[in-house]
Amino acid sequence: MRSKIVAGNWKMNKNAAETEALLTELAAKLPDTNAQVMVAPTFVNLAGAVRSLESSVIQVIAQNMHFAESGAYTGEISADMLLSIGVETVILGHSERRAYFKEDDEILAQKVKAALDKNMKVMFCFGEELEDRKSGNHFNVVESQLKNALFSLDASAWSSIILAYEPVWAIGTGETASPEQAQEMHAFIRKTITEAYNATIAGNVSILYGGSVKPANAKEIFGKPDVDGGLIGGASLKADDFVAIIGAI
Ligand code: G3P
Repeated sequence: MRSKIVAGNWKMNKNAAETEALLTELAAKLPDTNAQVMVAPTFVNLAGAVRSLESSVIQVIAQNMHFAESGAYTGEISADMLLSIGVETVILGHSERRAYFKEDDEILAQKVKAALDKNMKVMFCFGEELEDRKSGNHFNVVESQLKNALFSLDASAWSSIILAYEPVWAIGTGETASPEQAQEMHAFIRKTITEAYNATIAGNVSILYGGSVKPANAKEIFGKPDVDGGLIGGASLKADDFVAIIGAI
């Protein structure tokens, strides 16, 4: 049985004091839920967030990591560093990493392997650009992103994978994919994994939707059979909005 998950990707927002304040409010307002709840503060606030949430069910996850064990990679963070502060799940492949930091399928495949080699869980992001969808090429793009970064994995690795489909045209734009568009792509993703592996693996992997999820649209999106939750950006930075979205799953 796959997990329901609501994760907040804070991106480059909140200093130490703001992080502490938001986490305190979230922990106090967290509704009863069967879903896993995760937050991804910035690197500098991860250790503090883990400490702040040590008595909460809210999990702290990282927004990125490098594939190297250690070494001359100024400004980067390794899997061991994340594990050393109690962070066991990492977001990889976010469209902003792909766009601004030129993370291509090859780099992402290395990062996924590095995380799995350290027994971390990976929340893998992917999704098409607007021109891909307008040209009807969105299924090919998504299939290619999955195949190039994940389909060399052993079947056993998939228990450590969470997928996050985030159409780039919906990220930060207020232009949310319709529930039907989300369901159509999530069903396609599950079919693609079934064909590459088997129905059990495809049925057990959680597929989150990300891209302008708000309290007003969360319930309808999360109600679709192949949508297992959301990866939330802007709305995760406001406690009441994030709590409302959690309450919608
Ligand atoms: O990783 C989640 C993020 O890309 C979605 O952002 O602001 O559209 O919810 P937002």
